[in-house]
Amino acid sequence: MERIGFGLSPIMVFVFLLSLIFVSKFSYAVRDHEEIATKQSQLQTYIVHIKEPEGGQDFSKSEDLETWYKSFLPASSTTSNSQQRLLYSYRNVFTGFAAKLTKEEVKAMEEKDGFVLAWPEKIYHLQITRSPAFLGLHQNSGFWNGSNYGKGVIIAVVDSGISSHHPSFSDEGMPPPPAKWKGKCAFNGTICNNKIISASNFVESLPPTEDFIHGTPVASIAAGNFVEDARDLFGNAKGTAAGMAPHAHLAIYKACGELGCTGSAILAAIDAAIEDGVDVLSISLAADHSDPFYVDEITIGAFAATRKGIFVSTPAGNEGPRSPSLSNGAPWVLTVGASTIDRSIRTTAKLGNGEYFDGESFFQLSNFPSKLLPLVYAGANGNVSSAFCNKGSLKDMDVRGKIVVCDTEDGAIYVSDKEEEVKNAGGVAIILPNNKYRGFSTSEIDADILPATHLSYSSGLKIKAYINSTTKPTATIEFKGTIIGISSAPEVAHFSSRGPSLTSPGILKPDIIGPGANILAAWPANRMNSSSFNIVSGTSLSCPHLSGVAALLKSSHPEWSPAAIKSAIMTTADEVNHENKPIMDQTHQPADIFAVGAGHVNPSRANDPGLIYDSQPEDYIYYLCGLGYSNSQVGIVVNRRVNCSEESTIPEAQLNYPSFSIALGCNTTTQEFTRTVTNVGAVDSTYIIEIFAPAGVNVSVKPDKLDFTRLNQKKTYAVMFSKIRAKGKDRKPHAQGFLRWVSAKHSVRSPISVKFE
Ligand SMILES: *[C@@H]1O[C@H](CO)[C@@H](O)[C@H](O)[C@H]1NC(C)=O
Ligand SMILES: *[C@@H]1O[C@H](CO)[C@@H](O)[C@H](O)[C@H]1NC(C)=O
Ligand SMILES: *[C@@H]1O[C@H](CO)[C@@H](O)[C@H](O)[C@H]1NC(C)=O
Ligand SMILES: *[C@@H]1O[C@H](CO)[C@@H](O)[C@H](O)[C@H]1NC(C)=O
Ligand SMILES: *[C@@H]1O[C@H](CO)[C@@H](O)[C@H](O)[C@H]1NC(C)=O
Ligand SMILES: *[C@@H]1O[C@H](CO)[C@@H](O)[C@H](O)[C@H]1NC(C)=O
Ligand SMILES: *[C@@H]1O[C@H](CO)[C@@H](O)[C@H](O)[C@H]1NC(C)=O
Repeated sequence: MERIGFGLSPIMVFVFLLSLIFVSKFSYAVRDHEEIATKQSQLQTYIVHIKEPEGGQDFSKSEDLETWYKSFLPASSTTSNSQQRLLYSYRNVFTGFAAKLTKEEVKAMEEKDGFVLAWPEKIYHLQITRSPAFLGLHQNSGFWNGSNYGKGVIIAVVDSGISSHHPSFSDEGMPPPPAKWKGKCAFNGTICNNKIISASNFVESLPPTEDFIHGTPVASIAAGNFVEDARDLFGNAKGTAAGMAPHAHLAIYKACGELGCTGSAILAAIDAAIEDGVDVLSISLAADHSDPFYVDEITIGAFAATRKGIFVSTPAGNEGPRSPSLSNGAPWVLTVGASTIDRSIRTTAKLGNGEYFDGESFFQLSNFPSKLLPLVYAGANGNVSSAFCNKGSLKDMDVRGKIVVCDTEDGAIYVSDKEEEVKNAGGVAIILPNNKYRGFSTSEIDADILPATHLSYSSGLKIKAYINSTTKPTATIEFKGTIIGISSAPEVAHFSSRGPSLTSPGILKPDIIGPGANILAAWPANRMNSSSFNIVSGTSLSCPHLSGVAALLKSSHPEWSPAAIKSAIMTTADEVNHENKPIMDQTHQPADIFAVGAGHVNPSRANDPGLIYDSQPEDYIYYLCGLGYSNSQVGIVVNRRVNCSEESTIPEAQLNYPSFSIALGCNTTTQEFTRTVTNVGAVDSTYIIEIFAPAGVNVSVKPDKLDFTRLNQKKTYAVMFSKIRAKGKDRKPHAQGFLRWVSAKHSVRSPISVKFE
């Protein structure tokens, strides 16, 4: 059976342009600086919310809308000047616009009738670090075939643009866009075809090509077409590559340019995607800190999209394993963490004492001598700089003809300087152990100058102990090529951001994990040699995997709401790895609930979840009021006037979410919530509750049995959580468990996180 595309073979990771991150960081610095600066205010981009005039006005013509928006701009700006000041007029995401303004001008605007709020835009980052089969989807069978490979579904990719000539974007076998599609493509025949049905640029007036490679791999993972005989840089990868929904259409919205991914451009992209009629929004971007929802462009844009029935997939971020470090935590988006896949590009360090240590390297050599060579630890002399093989640090060491062990700061992402140093000093190969923090995670292998192996922290310790133990340590490196079927996969990738969500602790995040480490994805051929595919890592890549899965579900269940699709994905997720043991993290300990969320996506099971937890857009309003936001803050997120005292406010954990995140304190030792499930499985079915209570918590569910006699029938149950942990005992701040509804055919699982206050 053929594995889908991403289970192919080894390739190198290339120079990836991280300049964007630096640019973005820089613009933050500028912003902070400006807040302090008093004298001469500079122009910066503000997102401005305004109220629709009372009585309504016809703005169906976009010129009228723009004229109205311009009336808010400073009177002093001339016509041509105001043209430059107004960057984007929004129509679908909310009533308002983005404009270049000074602080004083914003202050003056506050006096105008209809003004609601303005805030300086944020800058978002691409969530790819340097650098699909595994998910049980197989050609011509099962769910892939049953969902028609996503046929008729449109996935919008808001990103850095596209290299459309890549074979992943061929429209072979693709029908024209569905009738509901309202988008247009200004590049018909050049960029656009029946695969890429629209491509627009919100950064500049140029075709939406990439300034840095990110949008192409992301789009290829979501919906790349089948590419037979896909090959890597060395021509040694062979097999069929494909995205998750290979017959879905792609709509490309470029929102990231040389200056980063600005909040104003992201909003403009989402605004257009809503207008065009897409089904799924894939946004592989995250801010480097989480703000309240009412000042977060992706969150606000995603709400407008969700209200129109569009499913939104976002990355959890690459700030792990630090906790909490999560981005994109709103309950209406799917927040996706990253896992490893079951493929390794294996290199093994073999020591003189017969011990073996497996590692990884894309740079595979078939002719490296199997003879044992002298082995040395660069830090043996106690010099820290030498230990890291920093530039110039090995000049007094004798490493000639030896294999050199060099410590790493960042795994094997930035190792070319170390390799150069070892090479210049006469070393013949390099062993790169992780630091403690990265543990077993070997997902960013960038060694390409010397024969190398990147291995775990613990293997590094054992190799160093061996070096200590003998006067003539020796080793060799064996290059074993691609190994498929690593049974400890999936593991949580070390970089995958961790919950809890600081913005809304009552919603468990991340929601799910999906493949995001060492993923084979389209890589524009014109950039580097003939390589069409490359291996890359980041939650930027797990996000489009889930966008693709959502497209498959949308294709097989067109009537499902975004919340229903999310529920199906979460309640059917795998909690164990391929060895049937709990999913582990980078330390090879069971990963906690803030790393895995509901678990690892299982697309075929998601297609038949039995029960779903649905939510309507109104539910989020009650939830936002319950978060304690003011009326105008809630109004900004949902783009309408809201008076929370007249809405049925609910606590966060009462949202009809497929997971639970609750807090029990000394005053709140007991909490009760209800959930409503909808039967989408068998007409006649009975579900029994199974509870795996978090340590120190009593969980009881009423009723403990649900009988369904028709499809789409709804049943409500209540869950009571009470603290039974004795004071002072086991002071862990969190405990985790789950409950599941089990019928003859289905198991509907909801993770539970409890915080002790
Ligand atoms: C694939 O799906 C089509 C219709 O959607 C069906 O006719 C065909 O039998 C399926 N093939 C397999 C191998 O399941
Ligand atoms: C693109 O061009 C083809 C052929 O030239 C035409 O049939 C198709 O309608 C065009 N599509 C759009 C969206 O303009
Ligand atoms: C190796 O020996 C050095 C010096 O005796 C010592 O500092 C170091 O901790 C030892 N390393 C290991 C891994 O045993
Ligand atoms: C890519 O590199 C290979 C090997 O170095 C070379 O044979 C080939 O011609 C190159 N292809 C292109 C398109 O530059
Ligand atoms: C919100 O509703 C409450 C209760 O009906 C009312 O007293 C209050 O004036 C309303 N606030 C606004 C801003 O309309
Ligand atoms: C619990 O209640 C006491 C007394 O009313 C109060 O002082 C304390 O702040 C409360 N603690 C929490 C965590 O709410
Ligand atoms: C747990 O809750 C149930 C229902 O409220 C109760 O019957 C049971 O005694 C409780 N168990 C413990 C250990 O408190």
